[in-house]
Amino acid sequence: MNRETFNRFVALIYEKSGITLNDNKEALVSSRIAKRMRKLGIANHRDYLRYVLDDTSGEEIVNMLDVISTNVTHFFRESQHFDFVQEKMDLWLRNGDRRFTFWSAGCSSGEEPYTMAMVLREVTKGSNVDLRILATDISTRILARSKDGVYDAKKAESIPRPLRDRYFDREGSGEAAVYSVKETLRSLVTFKRLNLSVVPFPMKGPMDFIFCRNVMIYFDNRVRVNLLGEFHRLLKPGGYLCVGHAESLTGMLGGFKAIRPSVYVKT
Ligand SMILES: C[S@@+](CC[C@H](N)C(=O)[O-])C[C@H]1O[C@@H](n2cnc3c(N)ncnc32)[C@H](O)[C@@H]1O
Repeated sequence: MNRETFNRFVALIYEKSGITLNDNKEALVSSRIAKRMRKLGIANHRDYLRYVLDDTSGEEIVNMLDVISTNVTHFFRESQHFDFVQEKMDLWLRNGDRRFTFWSAGCSSGEEPYTMAMVLREVTKGSNVDLRILATDISTRILARSKDGVYDAKKAESIPRPLRDRYFDREGSGEAAVYSVKETLRSLVTFKRLNLSVVPFPMKGPMDFIFCRNVMIYFDNRVRVNLLGEFHRLLKPGGYLCVGHAESLTGMLGGFKAIRPSVYVKT
């Protein structure tokens, strides 16, 4: 791909998703886009760019963002956040709270919201509660995988055995086994496509917890500040925002107080 075509892809991707790609990402962008081009039988990056721009339905933009986005995730990733959820839920339940709304913003293939669901099911066992988990992502391909909720043995390895036995159905054995999420978890989670770079969002609060982990690393400060403003609007006072450990949001968190590494409370 020549430099001009690369720059035009970068500008288009930023405009449509807020994802910022530096010059050193040229090889990555080129190979990911080539995947999509192969599917369409288009040989040249410039022709594909034209194809995307000419598609007035907007569908090809979605397909392009599907191949561009990075979806690495796993069950119980950065597990101290889930310990923290458990701690807070214990407290809220003791205080008599019974309705809880969680949001996994940038949920990828579902491991994050299903981990939330397992933790919430465990901590609320025996209580009569109304639990809701919203899980959103920009990628339609990854959302479809989330909804399927089927994971191979390697993926399922990071789920503690008792939880895996309780919340997943297994088919097959050993390395060939596949694990599918049981209805008791699935029924807690609502999956929706949402572009985090376009504010305001069509949702109302109040939410108790927002997880937006390993997503803001792809955005520049303009997109991050707008996003954090929306998280602030949607959280209840005393609600929590968890971000990825590698994310530095210094100077952008008006209305939040840091209480632990990568955990903020709405003040
Ligand atoms: C690396 S994954 C993080 C998954 C999970 N939160 C975790 O920490 O394991 C980043 C996710 O953010 C999504 N994403 C990227 N840009 C987005 C945007 N503008 N709106 C919504 N989701 C976006 C990607 O599709 C991808 O699934």
